[in-house]
Amino acid sequence: MTRILIFLLLCCKAALAAMESSNTSDQAALVSFRSVISDDPLGALASWRNQSLHHCQWAGVSCSNRQHPQRVTSLILDSLMLTGTLSPSLANLTFLQTIILSNNYISGIVPPEFGGLLRLQTLILSNNSLSGEIPPNITSCVSLQNLSLDTNMLIGEIPAELGKLVNLVRLRLYANKLTGVIPASIVNITSLVSLDLSENSLQGEIPDTIDKLANLGFLQLSINSLSGKLSSTLFNFSFAYYIDVGMNQLYGEVPWNMGTNLPRMRRLYLYSNQLEGSIPKWLSNVSRLERLGLEENQFKGVVPAELGMLPNLSWLALGNNQLVAQTTSDWAFLDALTNCSNLQILELSDNLFKGLLPSSIANLSTQMQWLSMENNQIAGSIPEEMGRYINLTVLLMHNNLVTGSIPSSIGRLQSLHRLSLSGNKFSGEIPSSLGNLTQLNELSLGGNGFEGSIPGVWVTLRI
Ligand SMILES: *[C@@H]1O[C@H](CO)[C@@H](O)[C@H](O)[C@H]1NC(C)=O
Ligand SMILES: *[C@@H]1O[C@H](CO)[C@@H](O)[C@H](O)[C@H]1NC(C)=O
Ligand SMILES: *[C@@H]1O[C@H](CO)[C@@H](O)[C@H](O)[C@H]1NC(C)=O
Ligand SMILES: *[C@@H]1O[C@H](CO)[C@@H](O)[C@H](O)[C@H]1NC(C)=O
Ligand SMILES: *[C@@H]1O[C@H](CO)[C@@H](O)[C@H](O)[C@H]1NC(C)=O
Ligand SMILES: *[C@@H]1O[C@H](CO)[C@@H](O)[C@H](O)[C@H]1NC(C)=O
Ligand SMILES: *[C@@H]1O[C@H](CO)[C@@H](O)[C@H](O)[C@H]1NC(C)=O
Ligand SMILES: *[C@@H]1O[C@H](CO)[C@@H](O)[C@H](O)[C@H]1NC(C)=O
Ligand SMILES: *[C@@H]1O[C@H](CO)[C@@H](O)[C@H](O)[C@H]1NC(C)=O
Ligand SMILES: *[C@@H]1O[C@H](CO)[C@@H](O)[C@H](O)[C@H]1NC(C)=O
Ligand SMILES: *[C@@H]1O[C@H](CO)[C@@H](O)[C@H](O)[C@H]1NC(C)=O
Ligand SMILES: *[C@@H]1O[C@H](CO)[C@@H](O)[C@H](O)[C@H]1NC(C)=O
Repeated sequence: MTRILIFLLLCCKAALAAMESSNTSDQAALVSFRSVISDDPLGALASWRNQSLHHCQWAGVSCSNRQHPQRVTSLILDSLMLTGTLSPSLANLTFLQTIILSNNYISGIVPPEFGGLLRLQTLILSNNSLSGEIPPNITSCVSLQNLSLDTNMLIGEIPAELGKLVNLVRLRLYANKLTGVIPASIVNITSLVSLDLSENSLQGEIPDTIDKLANLGFLQLSINSLSGKLSSTLFNFSFAYYIDVGMNQLYGEVPWNMGTNLPRMRRLYLYSNQLEGSIPKWLSNVSRLERLGLEENQFKGVVPAELGMLPNLSWLALGNNQLVAQTTSDWAFLDALTNCSNLQILELSDNLFKGLLPSSIANLSTQMQWLSMENNQIAGSIPEEMGRYINLTVLLMHNNLVTGSIPSSIGRLQSLHRLSLSGNKFSGEIPSSLGNLTQLNELSLGGNGFEGSIPGVWVTLRI
């Protein structure tokens, strides 16, 4: 009996000692973290200086309460204007699951010692001033689900061993100065749901087995220097609802044939590349599509009228391509788009659109906000019914062959900020109703054949 008691006592004593030591070492690690925070203008860390408070009660600190009482499990101090650096001692908080220090002014490096945080699930250091490279060691944090180092000044390459982070759900490295390629190993992170590597200087191709990321819903690779052809696998994501590969150096025909496997796609952006080919009819099968951005490429052919079958299409940007329209049937797409009752943005500028502007231009959704068709060879005239677009903020038609007069109903477009009709063949008088457009801050009408004097009302316009 006594033996058992003695055993129990020894055991508990040992356990207590262990607890105590980790208790104090966690505290030491936090004190070390605080010691390199040089400015805390909001007094966010005031409680950290209160001797009568246990460190688990310090602001932003949480501790576990079951198997490992008083071990620090999370450190959440975001948006507190903290200035300083990241203490490597944080890596001594071996029970840490969550570090969120986003939206501060933390500079210096991401300590490689963080690689020892094997329980870390969430590391969010977004929007600070971190520099140096992403430590390859971070790929040892095997529990990481949520890694956000975006909006910093990180340089160098994304660690090749990234694929070791097999539990990652969300990876955000955007808005840094990262170079090199997208590591091939990324295709091993099949748990990834959201990947944002945009606004860096990444080069090379998009890994062509990227469709192995079968759970990926959000893929943002825009504003990099990615090159090569688009692999058909890029259009083989059954979960993807958002893909943006805009502003890169991708070229060649778009392998659209896989498109029927985009059942959830809502926003698809391929703008500002050197992509070729025609816009396929079957896009109408991507039935949830809301935004399609194909501008600034080398797309050819007619715009398929089938786009009008997309019930939720709100944004269609096709500017700066080599799309054609000449005959009434080529323009059928515009008639079809009148079915899209959510259409807000229609951008057709800088293409090879010719022939008569269909009267359906005045029959689009009343939600229209942006309508641009400048720098084409469009003839015909502006229908009086255009006055329906009470939410239109931008109407750009300059450098075309439009004739007739400006309908006075333009004066009903109360939201208009930009109206550009210069370089056409308009005639007649400039309607005085333009004086109604109080929001207007850009107006160009030059290079037309207007008659008579400019109405006195002009002086009230901010031109
Ligand atoms: C941890 O330290 C605090 C004082 O900082 C003390 O009150 C508490 O009893 C310690 N816990 C353990 C388990 O030693
Ligand atoms: C963190 O752990 C290392 C290695 O065990 C030790 O040398 C260092 O003093 C610890 N830092 C703090 C602040 O406790
Ligand atoms: C320290 O914390 C205790 C307990 O919350 C509080 O009563 C006391 O006012 C605090 N001291 C200071 C200087 O803030
Ligand atoms: C970044 O953090 C600063 C400071 O908290 C904040 O003012 C700014 O809005 C943040 N920027 C972004 C993009 O969140
Ligand atoms: C890198 O991470 C390992 C844990 O995987 C750790 O033991 C090592 O100390 C780390 N290296 C540095 C330089 O901190
Ligand atoms: C990752 O962090 C963000 C921001 O704190 C949060 O909204 C999201 O739910 C987290 N995701 C996971 C998988 O932890
Ligand atoms: C993916 O993981 C497997 C197994 O760990 C490994 O053999 C393979 O090389 C990895 N693929 C890439 C592209 O890194
Ligand atoms: C598309 O994905 C499926 C499984 O998700 C796969 O079997 C098929 O080979 C992929 N197709 C292409 C062209 O990559
Ligand atoms: C849409 O998908 C159906 C079924 O897969 C197919 O029969 C039809 O031809 C497709 N429509 C277009 C325009 O590609
Ligand atoms: C269109 O949007 C509405 C409202 O967001 C939604 O309920 C509907 O399911 C969408 N339609 C398609 C085909 O995705
Ligand atoms: C115009 O915009 C306002 C504010 O965004 C909105 O409430 C209204 O429904 C819009 N009108 C039309 C006709 O879409
Ligand atoms: C001028 O604007 C008012 C609304 O502020 C509108 O009722 C009126 O019809 C407009 N006049 C013309 C000529 O468009």
